[in-house]
Amino acid sequence: MFQLENLAAFQQRIDQFLKQKLADIAINDQRLFDAMSYGLLIGGKRMRPYLAYVTAEMLELDLDDIDPIAAALECIHAYSLLHDDLPAMDDDDLRRGQATCHVKFDEATAILAGDSLQTLAFEIISNHPFNNVSAKTQIQLIQMLSKAAGYQGMCGGQAMDLAATDHQVPIEQLQTIHKLKTGALLQAAILMPAKCREDLPEHTFSGLQEFAQQIGLAYQVHDDIIDITSSEETLGKPAGSDVDANKSTYPALLGLEGAMKKEQQLFQQALSALETLPYNTRNLSNFSTFIIKRAH
Ligand code: IPE
Ligand code: IPE
Ligand code: MG
Ligand code: MG
Ligand code: MG
Repeated sequence: MFQLENLAAFQQRIDQFLKQKLADIAINDQRLFDAMSYGLLIGGKRMRPYLAYVTAEMLELDLDDIDPIAAALECIHAYSLLHDDLPAMDDDDLRRGQATCHVKFDEATAILAGDSLQTLAFEIISNHPFNNVSAKTQIQLIQMLSKAAGYQGMCGGQAMDLAATDHQVPIEQLQTIHKLKTGALLQAAILMPAKCREDLPEHTFSGLQEFAQQIGLAYQVHDDIIDITSSEETLGKPAGSDVDANKSTYPALLGLEGAMKKEQQLFQQALSALETLPYNTRNLSNFSTFIIKRAH
């Protein structure tokens, strides 16, 4: 299997930071707290934190300033999964190799745990004593995360995803769905650290944005592919659930071969965008390879 440099170290770093943030919370309701911890800390590849850390390393940023960004991204991601698995949405009972939050606890608790993880994200990023990030940039980070997570990003994409169930949509619409429901947060994982480099030239930011868009879309195309080609054991979530639920996916629209071809195209476009950057982009390029190779 293709390995990512320092993946285990960054996973450990973010897990420790997240554990500390949870430990700092005064517990009012033990059951809600347990569900939040369950959704946040049990498994997960930590790809968004990883992207944030390697982008920051590339830009020679202080990683202590990246911890709250990585943590906020992971809180939003974890919340999106708790809600995505609910009976009202994808109705799945397995996540990260364990019972989904609403199965382990109950639906109301899973909804509230998701809500609480979402607000925790903004609490972490707005309370953090940054070393080299100005107050103005801190506000911009909050703006970027809000946009990526909400109506104009993940939530908007999730709504369109649900509306595209049980019937076919044009490929352009599917692309918009995937860019919003998954691409937006992955893009933020790259661009939020980039925003912390306050002297970054505009064209460098645009090059990173171009990379982030291609890889963000490729991430969901690959998720669609492995839903078909991989096993429940490898995925840690039900295999074939998109077909069972009659979801609009890249393989459903283009066939498995067509989806794989599209993924290759996105991969090449992502690498081309990296070539325009005046940095050592090895880890971002390896990330792209990792994404399209994983879990087959
Ligand atoms: C799964 O995301 C849902 C998508 C947005 C594609 P990940 O594959 O990153 O899930 P975890 O965090 O590793 O479980
Ligand atoms: C998830 O898409 C997108 C989210 C915002 C959570 P999927 O519904 O395909 O994710 P999985 O396959 O359940 O992880
Ligand atoms: Mg879904
Ligand atoms: Mg799902
Ligand atoms: Mg999926």
